Amino acid sequence: MWGGTDRKDSLAAVQEAIEAGITTIDTAPVYGFGLSEEIVGEAIKGNRNKVQILTKYGLRWDTQKGQHFFDTQDAQGRPIGLHKYAGEKDVIQECENSLRRLGTDYIDLYQIHWPDPTTPIEETMLAVKKLLQDGKVRAAGVCNYSVEQMELAEKVLVLSSGQIPYSMVNRGAKKDVIPYCMKNNKGVIAYSPLQRGLLTGRIGMDHEFAPGDHRPSTPFFKPENRRKILSFLEKIGLLAEAHEASLAQLAIAWTINRPGITAALVGARNPGQVRENVRSANIALTRDEFQRIGELLEGLDLQL
Ligand SMILES: NC(=O)c1ccc[n+]([C@@H]2O[C@H](COP(=O)([O-])OP(=O)(O)OC[C@H]3O[C@@H](n4cnc5c(N)ncnc54)[C@H](OP(=O)(O)O)[C@@H]3O)[C@@H](O)[C@H]2O)c1
Repeated sequence: MWGGTDRKDSLAAVQEAIEAGITTIDTAPVYGFGLSEEIVGEAIKGNRNKVQILTKYGLRWDTQKGQHFFDTQDAQGRPIGLHKYAGEKDVIQECENSLRRLGTDYIDLYQIHWPDPTTPIEETMLAVKKLLQDGKVRAAGVCNYSVEQMELAEKVLVLSSGQIPYSMVNRGAKKDVIPYCMKNNKGVIAYSPLQRGLLTGRIGMDHEFAPGDHRPSTPFFKPENRRKILSFLEKIGLLAEAHEASLAQLAIAWTINRPGITAALVGARNPGQVRENVRSANIALTRDEFQRIGELLEGLDLQL
């Protein structure tokens, strides 16, 4: 979905992250259909106790059960239909598969990838509760769940976190999931904080995407939205310069310092991107700077 990746670069990116002091690695079985977890497993060899592994379940490429999500293809171009399915037995089996690929005997945070409307939430969470009791999983989390879905899950177990899309230009979760997590003492894990690369300013109007890259077909990448986002980035360019920061660093610093945000999952293709991105932890934005950015974002008017 990202126009191809290089295994060596990905491995080196995770190793670079660990050396730089990043402690949270988020992956999923469906990323590369098992390949991402295998690469993470290889990268953490000898360093398991330095990192927390966040992985997921319930998004399947190898079953027709559950609800069809969307069609994609594997690295050889073969068609694949993705399904949301989190039935009890399958969750237990998925966990075993992830442990094997990751080369570990426990997962720090186990998250449902997307809600599965075909399985009662209670059934899914009972499976995770068993994994917690067996010590295969240390904490339970959810991704892309609404507050109502989180409340249902909590009838069975305690959730540690909610993972949601959140970036300067995608702030919907501040209305519901973020306040709920803040009130109930749960972590909020922000994904796609660079809006899949757009907020780095390095994807211009004439950017040529590699074949198979899903990004140009998504709403934020529509030309009219890209133009507005690029114009916003131009306006905050001076602010970034004042911090001797790149736009990517500014966008990450903004995200991790928003109320309620516990961690940002920043995707990196290679060690160079990791080195650049990790520096954002040292950038302290002032109250006036937050306000200025907020005002510009309020006026953005994206067509999603
Ligand atoms: N739970 C879920 O449903 C869900 C969904 C999406 C993501 N996630 C998690 O969140 C993570 C990050 O999300 P994401 O990859 O979608 O979005 P992202 O972090 O917003 O963007 C990552 C992309 O930004 C570009 N990039 C990163 N650092 C850069 C730099 N310094 N300079 C230039 N470009 C840079 C790279 O694009 P190029 O490829 O153009 O180099 C990279 O692939 C994922 O790996 C995953 O763990 C979870």
